[in-house]
Amino acid sequence: MEQDLKTEYKGRLLAAKDLPTLPTVLDKVSRLMEDPNSSTEQIARVISMDQVLSAKVLKMVNSPVYGFPGRIATIQHALVLLGFNVIKGIIISTSVFDIMEESMKGLWEHSMGCALACSTVARHVGFKDPEEYAVAGLLHDIGKVLAVVQLPECKEEIISAVKNDDLTYLEAENKVLGFGHDRINHWVAGYWNLPLKLKEGLAFHHKPSQARHYPDVAQVVHVGDFLTRLFEIGSGGDDQVSTLDREVMLKLGIDFPLLEKILDDLVTDFEELAVS
Ligand SMILES: [Fe+2]
Ligand SMILES: [Fe+2]
Repeated sequence: MEQDLKTEYKGRLLAAKDLPTLPTVLDKVSRLMEDPNSSTEQIARVISMDQVLSAKVLKMVNSPVYGFPGRIATIQHALVLLGFNVIKGIIISTSVFDIMEESMKGLWEHSMGCALACSTVARHVGFKDPEEYAVAGLLHDIGKVLAVVQLPECKEEIISAVKNDDLTYLEAENKVLGFGHDRINHWVAGYWNLPLKLKEGLAFHHKPSQARHYPDVAQVVHVGDFLTRLFEIGSGGDDQVSTLDREVMLKLGIDFPLLEKILDDLVTDFEELAVS
């Protein structure tokens, strides 16, 4: 891979911060969220002004993923229950929903499945705020979408490398672009000013040991991604079952009996998600 080409790809990807689908509201909301003097009410008001966006956010927060199915009626209530960071992640994910549906079949279902699996895993291992893990699961493969949208000429090449060379999607990206969606996640999370916890979850879900501050988030997303593939919910771009890092299972304290409980729960959870 020529260095020049790799640098060009990176440059074009970073232009993704201006993705046309990201609502202008996101900027305003981000600024308000960083200002310690702003109130939940103020932030809720800004989000609520964009009615299409609000409807999408409300639909998402009421899905079985977040544990309050059908019970959140207003953006303000959603902010109080789930927190700023989760709502910010949801705004980003619902804003790329359309391009995700168009550009990579099955990736939305895979992302929703992973969000649900992350929340289930986080609850079972006893972590607080499972919704924060869920939103990391929801966004974990967003770099895949950005790559095919910003670098359309590489899309076919990646797909054919998956098919013909029997590679995982991540390996194919690395071969064609010189980096994978995990790196892309890292860049855009910085650009979008996502909290470190979320950023590390997105950037290190394939290599949780590299997360320096919040390895727990990367570990949960790693396991959530694996389980979503195991249950064949949607598609992550290839049909390989990703490898599950045993070290991660040890660190999370997931032994066989606990894994069995998680799997049992997921059967019901995924059914609920399918009908929601
Ligand atoms: Fe991934
Ligand atoms: Fe994935």
